[in-house]
Amino acid sequence: MAAYEYETHEYDVVVVGAGGAGLRATLGMAEQGLRTACVTKVFPTRSHTVAAQGGIAASLSNMGPDNWQWHMYDTVKGSDWLGDTDAMEYLAREAPKAVYELEHYGVPFSRTEEGKIYQRPFGGHTTEFGEGPPVQRTCAAADRTGHAILHTLYGQSLKNNAEFYIEYFAIDLIMSEDGQCQGVVCWKLDDGTMHVFNAKMVVLATGGYGRAYFSATSAHTCTGDGGGMVARAGLALQDMEFVQFHPTGIYGSGCLITEGARGEGGYLTNSEGERFMERYAPNYKDLAPRDYVSRSMTMEIREGRGVGEGGDHIHLNLSHLPPEALAERLPGISESAKIFAGVDVTKEPIPVLPTVHYNMGGIPTNYWGEVVNPTADDPNAVVPGLMAVGEAGCASVHGANRLGSNSLIDLVVFGRAAAIRAGKVVDADAPNPVLNQASVDAAFDRFDGLRNAKGGIPTADLRLEMQKTMQSDAAVFRASDSLAQGVTNMTAIADKIGDLAVTDRSLVWNSDLMETLELTNLMPNALATIVGAEARKESRGAHAHEDFSERDDENWRVHTTSRVDGSKVDLSYRSVGTDPLTSEDEGGISLKKIAPKARTF
Ligand code: FUM
Repeated sequence: MAAYEYETHEYDVVVVGAGGAGLRATLGMAEQGLRTACVTKVFPTRSHTVAAQGGIAASLSNMGPDNWQWHMYDTVKGSDWLGDTDAMEYLAREAPKAVYELEHYGVPFSRTEEGKIYQRPFGGHTTEFGEGPPVQRTCAAADRTGHAILHTLYGQSLKNNAEFYIEYFAIDLIMSEDGQCQGVVCWKLDDGTMHVFNAKMVVLATGGYGRAYFSATSAHTCTGDGGGMVARAGLALQDMEFVQFHPTGIYGSGCLITEGARGEGGYLTNSEGERFMERYAPNYKDLAPRDYVSRSMTMEIREGRGVGEGGDHIHLNLSHLPPEALAERLPGISESAKIFAGVDVTKEPIPVLPTVHYNMGGIPTNYWGEVVNPTADDPNAVVPGLMAVGEAGCASVHGANRLGSNSLIDLVVFGRAAAIRAGKVVDADAPNPVLNQASVDAAFDRFDGLRNAKGGIPTADLRLEMQKTMQSDAAVFRASDSLAQGVTNMTAIADKIGDLAVTDRSLVWNSDLMETLELTNLMPNALATIVGAEARKESRGAHAHEDFSERDDENWRVHTTSRVDGSKVDLSYRSVGTDPLTSEDEGGISLKKIAPKARTF
């Protein structure tokens, strides 16, 4: 057994991760007087939410008629009928409240002439239950909305006495013999000390796992750490095959160009200068949802109408927009285009390509953020002491495809919901759990094993193998042959984890070891993704299967549940929640309105 000295910390709640969801949960917990710690591997305002650009969806009706029922309908249709109805209703209903709270906390939203929060159109957001024109629903702080939210929430959390443990890497969850989460074991990166956090509630807000792919808009820190810890604890992951490709990553670097660029009037063209989205989505054109636009772009490239020397990308045009509008509404992407593509957006188009952006799947939860571990007896069984929010979780509001700007609202609505729930289930006066020492020791043993790994493969090499395989075999379009090959390749790659070589044995700022720990988190996420994709014999949302090109509601309107053990993935399936929170008589949406139908735009 590895012998590491450690310091023990006791809290009511420990939140792991300080992005939008983690900070909103932290703030909500602290506001209620719960002793709250937020443990984060990066400085809070460097969390990946800082990169969120275009905005946050809420039916405020500041720019024209809108209501939560239309927002809910768009989310249901956007999800390709794989989202859970209660969670989608909760999101759409609570969104305006959550945004006004942000405003009152101090988020510097852009303003209309009358001083209201400015809202812009985003893909898939419509009026009249998809029958009317696009709606301006996405509340924006220029094109730096995530940055504005993150800084405000961090300040408010400090004001409410939340305690921050910054640059602490979470190694593993502490689980009791009977399946209760009791805390988390952490490594402090800057001085090499070890820390055990004992908590009545652990909230995983660790973000997505975009870095399982070679090219992603996600930060290099997006390594699915929560999913990795959950998989090692023997708990389930859900709907991992649904990976969103954002239509406009800058060609080459993958850096995000916000969908807000198309919301403000930008449009895509092919090598013939054609606005091809008019053919694929005659009503909503460039403002169709992301899965639709990414597939259309890929078809154009495949059919020989891509731009550039290799004919392998597409143009995003903004130069027809007034320079003052670009400077006011899209200053960030104007700068990114200059830096990463050498393009002056007032004069030239930006070269773009669909790029991995978001994981619809994650740790299954109910709409209060409580982690669910489905069993044969109880498909909704809650794991005591454990919550997951934000991109790490899967409530599931995004189903098979997320609408743009529904991510930031997911972060704050469900971060807030987790805090409301914790206020009810966490007893501040009760003693903290007696920790399961075997679970603590197991975390240190795993850490020590990796620290002293003397195998033949450097972490960076194995990570690259994984990223290249995922990029080619679990892409925008998928096919039986490449998925089967991908599963074989990924299984072999995951088996090599036991042969890793770590060269730095120190405990202080050991990035070799940290990246190795991250790789052990990325791997189960990646495996569950490709195995789930290979098994799903239909096309739905972001899962476009060339050999099964239709959606199959009879057989496949189900959530995929995956349990990963080493390189082995066990799949099972669980029903999609179809019950709304409120009936039509109580002002809820008509079930007829949200019944599955063909998804056209
Ligand atoms: O395009 C964007 O600004 C990204 C927003 C989102 O993913 O919700």
